[in-house]
Amino acid sequence: MKYKKVVLLPGDGIGPEVTREAVKVLIATGEKFRVRFAFTEELVGGASLDATGEPVTDTVISLAYNADAVFLGAVGGPQWDRVNKEKRPETGLLRLRKELGLYTNLRPVRVYLSLVHSSTLKPELIKNIDILVVRELTGGIYFGHPKGVEMRDGEECGIDTMTYKVSEVDRIARVAFDAARQRKNKVISVDKANVLAASQIWRRTVDYVARDYPDVNLEHMLVDNCAMQLIRNPVQFDVLLTDNMFGDILSDEAAMLSGSIGMLPSASLGRGTAMYEPVHGSAPDIAGQDVANPLAAILSVALMCRYSFGMNHAACLIENAVEAVLEKGFRTRDIHAPGTQLAGTCEMGDRIVEVMEQLTCEE
Ligand code: IPM
Ligand code: MG
Repeated sequence: MKYKKVVLLPGDGIGPEVTREAVKVLIATGEKFRVRFAFTEELVGGASLDATGEPVTDTVISLAYNADAVFLGAVGGPQWDRVNKEKRPETGLLRLRKELGLYTNLRPVRVYLSLVHSSTLKPELIKNIDILVVRELTGGIYFGHPKGVEMRDGEECGIDTMTYKVSEVDRIARVAFDAARQRKNKVISVDKANVLAASQIWRRTVDYVARDYPDVNLEHMLVDNCAMQLIRNPVQFDVLLTDNMFGDILSDEAAMLSGSIGMLPSASLGRGTAMYEPVHGSAPDIAGQDVANPLAAILSVALMCRYSFGMNHAACLIENAVEAVLEKGFRTRDIHAPGTQLAGTCEMGDRIVEVMEQLTCEE
């Protein structure tokens, strides 16, 4: 039997804890579906910086490049806040995304029925939410040049440049339109075309691509309005197409619709190996206490099964197991409510595996 090579990059803070639970679930999936995984664990972020002097090494990049899939926990922490930008933990993650060519970031936001009351929004507002954020991941202000700190008019000046080439917008727009065809046929594209040149190219290119998708309904929305609409009437969204920075911000906002950012998984896809990471950060304040929510990490493994291994049944099984465990009333601290049972990070992972073993699946 052939092994699927998975590179694990647990990273910093709660990264290692949630990665452990994700791996548990992946192993259980392998047993159920007769697939074997070969794991290689490597350093990224602050952990890598401390050990090697770099937030990600060339060796790790090349291992990731040659793997069948990569799982990343989280990076960053206050102890590295004063480090120069090129050495920061986050720079390691950005380099991985760039070098693996991961221009598509998918962040599905759904509200589990049993968590409807965990959101800070009214239940009737969020009940039927099913949004797919399609975030461009290797362009925009994160990567544009010039960038850095230089002297201007006798004082220090921080510079970042937002650039978008037509080809970069074209390819991510196609991902969004293709995804919409599998869903409710609606794309809302976010920009700031009333101010930014990069957004004008964005909007024009999305319009151009839309001509190939006459069956898909397209709407443009300015980012400030979008931030408001996500809270005002979130069920209007189906596919939410965004650039790199707007997607970063709006996906955190959208996460709160689902009750906790600890619920949101992501898949970063590109030309070759894909990478899977929970949307949440390293949460150093709760690291090592067995209280972090591992469900975003576990749901990211479901996305790995779906997108990297073509194992859609396995992905559904994991997602159903998450739903079932929530329905049984188990909750980590972030989503805990009166009448539900508090569970630690590790227990939550065990519960998911336990339910997976009981659930039936065809494949
Ligand atoms: C995310 C994170 C990253 C980003 C950071 C850690 C660089 O916030 O994946 O949303 O800004 O993309
Ligand atoms: Mg973010």
